[in-house]
Amino acid sequence: MSAPAVRVCFVCLGNICRSPTAEGVMRHLLARARLSDRVHVESAGTGGWHVGEPADRRSVAHAKRRGVVLDRRAQQLTANYFARFDLLVVADAQNLANVRRLAPSDAERAKVRLLRSFEPGAALGAEVPDPYTGGPDGFEEVLDICERACDGLLAHLRTTYSL
Ligand code: 4NP
Repeated sequence: MSAPAVRVCFVCLGNICRSPTAEGVMRHLLARARLSDRVHVESAGTGGWHVGEPADRRSVAHAKRRGVVLDRRAQQLTANYFARFDLLVVADAQNLANVRRLAPSDAERAKVRLLRSFEPGAALGAEVPDPYTGGPDGFEEVLDICERACDGLLAHLRTTYSL
């Protein structure tokens, strides 16, 4: 076992759909790459309505079909996450603005990145759409996006942290 080289927190609004999905997909990719002990992964929400709850059962069910396990409980982002994490990876432009506003310094503000900025070929500013009020296709789309973007994020971490 070696200590984590890098600490990543995925962030969305409620921490029950998009960021837990990204967290689960990233853990899955890290396990496959035998890098689970090198990268610490969590997720959090900018809002606190769902703190302590498991991920949305629709997110859990769709992820399970791909072998991705969502088993964490929702937590709310606070300013001290900037000290605990190297990267805060957000789902959409609203999260980006909210998380950047919480940053204690310019250096810590630079830790905030859109998830899809790691997705090869995604448009500048592309977002992970919120599936909460929609149908099953939205949850599949979130998984498709998270798989592509987390793959790109893993490549970025391998290069940046020599994993
Ligand atoms: P998430 O989706 O940000 O992807 O977890 C949402 C979940 C719950 C709510 C909003 C978005 N909500 O308003 O309760």
